[in-house]
Amino acid sequence: MKNYTHINDIDDINSWIKEAKALKKNPLKDIELGKNKTLGLLFFNSSLRTRLSTQKAALNLGMNPIVMNVSGDAWGIEFLDGTIMNGNTAEHIKEAAQVVSQYCDVIAVRAFPTLIEKEKDESELVLSSFVKYASVPVINMESATGHPLQGFTDAITISENATKKKPKVVLSWAPHIKALPHAVGNSFVQAMQKMDVEFVITNPEGYNLNPEITKDTPIYHNQKEALKDADFVYTKNWSSYDDYGKILKTDSDWMITNEKIGNAKFMHCLPVRRNLVVEDAVLDGENSLVIEQANNRTFAAQLVLKKILHNKG
Ligand code: CP
Repeated sequence: MKNYTHINDIDDINSWIKEAKALKKNPLKDIELGKNKTLGLLFFNSSLRTRLSTQKAALNLGMNPIVMNVSGDAWGIEFLDGTIMNGNTAEHIKEAAQVVSQYCDVIAVRAFPTLIEKEKDESELVLSSFVKYASVPVINMESATGHPLQGFTDAITISENATKKKPKVVLSWAPHIKALPHAVGNSFVQAMQKMDVEFVITNPEGYNLNPEITKDTPIYHNQKEALKDADFVYTKNWSSYDDYGKILKTDSDWMITNEKIGNAKFMHCLPVRRNLVVEDAVLDGENSLVIEQANNRTFAAQLVLKKILHNKG
């Protein structure tokens, strides 16, 4: 594996989960693998978990992580070809990616969507430009349309907590005050489609995710019906895909409560707004997996880095 930019870079999710669980048991067993190798983490957007867990993963492999907040601290980067750069951008991705490739053996990038320019977001302009111009492997730390480190983490967490062979997993939309990206929902859908689970999505009318991603996964507009007999409830807000980036609904009737989910395990990628997306009682209850999920981010990232380092030789 050269790059990790999409859930489809996972060739066999069950064997990856097995390998990640082994790393979790013995996180320092490959401490020599990344010796004298540098991981560059470039953030165009905020982060807590991705930023720290990916560095932790690198450290567990003996790598040296270096981090930059690109939007705040670097020169403004131009991504379009042939632009007369007489505006706010001071250097082109062609130079920037090649320069960073000289300092780093692997580059990890976080770049959210505009949620305004659908075509630009779907082209993954920032991530794909790094892949195009960098001479080293590139990892997606959440791009315009996907968060594959999170999706893989969620698959590990479900595998660890499943008490039956084929659990029912429900991805439920929940309210939010801001227009949020589709990336986490997309990658969770793609991860579940690779797993042996009964998987359904529930969201209000107008909030269906990209049908090219959801494919034949059942979508319910009745949350109660979807949540019936759920073993895992994964909650996330996203803005409308059809009415791109718009908030169509903010009222609380889709908020996740203990009453709605019963004995199901609760999952969320975090950060989460309490009593807007999900009530306190769920997050503070014994069925919440959110802290465990965040812990698994390290081992998902560590396995991805390990595979890339093995491939680099
Ligand atoms: N889940 C997740 O990616 O968290 P951060 O945005 O804090 O990195």
